[in-house]
Amino acid sequence: MRDFYPEDMAVRNAIFQAWTNASQTFGFEPYDACVVEHLALLKRKAGEEIAEQLYTFTDKSGRELALRAEITPSLARMVAARQSQLVFPLKWFTIGQCFRYERMSRGRKREHYQWNLDVLGAPDVAAEVEVVAAALYALRILGLGPAEVRVHLNSRGLLSDLFARASIPPERHSALFLALDKRGKMEDNAIAELLLAEGFDHAAIETAFQLMGIQRFDEAAARIGEETPSVAALNRFFQLARPYGIEESLLFDIGTIRGLGYYTGIVFECFDVHRRFRALFGGGRYDNLLASLGGRPLPAVGLGFGDVVVAELLVELGRLSRVENSGRIHIGYFDEAQRTAAIRLAALWRKEGRQVELALAPEKAKSFFSRVGRLAAGQAVYLGPDDLERGTFRLKNLETRTEIEQPIPPL
Ligand code: HAM
Repeated sequence: MRDFYPEDMAVRNAIFQAWTNASQTFGFEPYDACVVEHLALLKRKAGEEIAEQLYTFTDKSGRELALRAEITPSLARMVAARQSQLVFPLKWFTIGQCFRYERMSRGRKREHYQWNLDVLGAPDVAAEVEVVAAALYALRILGLGPAEVRVHLNSRGLLSDLFARASIPPERHSALFLALDKRGKMEDNAIAELLLAEGFDHAAIETAFQLMGIQRFDEAAARIGEETPSVAALNRFFQLARPYGIEESLLFDIGTIRGLGYYTGIVFECFDVHRRFRALFGGGRYDNLLASLGGRPLPAVGLGFGDVVVAELLVELGRLSRVENSGRIHIGYFDEAQRTAAIRLAALWRKEGRQVELALAPEKAKSFFSRVGRLAAGQAVYLGPDDLERGTFRLKNLETRTEIEQPIPPL
């Protein structure tokens, strides 16, 4: 699990601010849920990696519980509980901790914060484009644009159309999705073994791998040979992306399938352009989840965007300069005789809403300035006996190293 020291908090806060700003700019409403859920809600089908990564425990009443590995089941539970009162489509966002028992590697930790953006009750692709555009907007705030990141786009419906034309029956498609999603993380041979064990024959496995070689969307559409709803949906995604101004950030990628079982339509994942890191965010359409959790059927689209990979990418690109607080005033003083004046200055500035760091004990000028002088931002005041005699203090700008003299306000 993670500890956040103040310098880590500066990075985390910058990311959270970008997420919150993007959510609000795109008209999403905040919600929150507890990190502990009933295990029954989070338990999953075999084949999903997330199923083996749950931290589970039994509470004192014998309830089987778990720390959430993602937020989508909790969101679905909350929406299902008020489905008849809520006004749809609804656009909700949250930032929350998720826990996965992962093998720790670059970009993967056992605890991460995840920004979730979801639209429920919107059957049209407009919802997919809206969430992707909002996530790209957050990345822009952090200084990442089409030169750095790209959204890889595909559709499970499109894959199903391709599989169906290769005579793979629909009831076998979801197993195929979960297995093929492991490409890149697992050798093709091992995936083939897995599929053989699932009952797929050699011919079907070979066809599936061959389909994964499709490079372009028009190639996939040509193989399908007619405008199925999935082909139309992807076409519409690219068309709607243009007025949003995000089309240059999009890339059709037949290999983007996603490892979660509940996706039903368009799926996407965002990567750095050189594919050196894990996905920055991922999501898609999940039209059956609400009904499968006991709610009424409800179309849904969303994404999860973690704090870990984006921070690693920002560090790698040198985009995370030390975030220093330029609005803070540091106050120090030589001995007890100046303490009252120092407190008075602090109180006046704090009343004005300024951020003031007031020394809690007297200290020598050298020690005060070696402490705050390292900062290249903010302002500092050090009160000595001479200042009180003159009745003035010097406010030093730590960035420009200039100072101005002002009268000490009367008590
Ligand atoms: P996911 O792809 O499993 O999707 O996770 C979304 C994002 O969370 C990933 O792209 C990554 O940034 C981050 N993430 C996941 N696991 C870890 C980890 N162990 N360490 C660091 N970061 C991680 C979901 O969770 C879906 N529920 C997203 C969604 C929302 N779909 C619809 N609505």
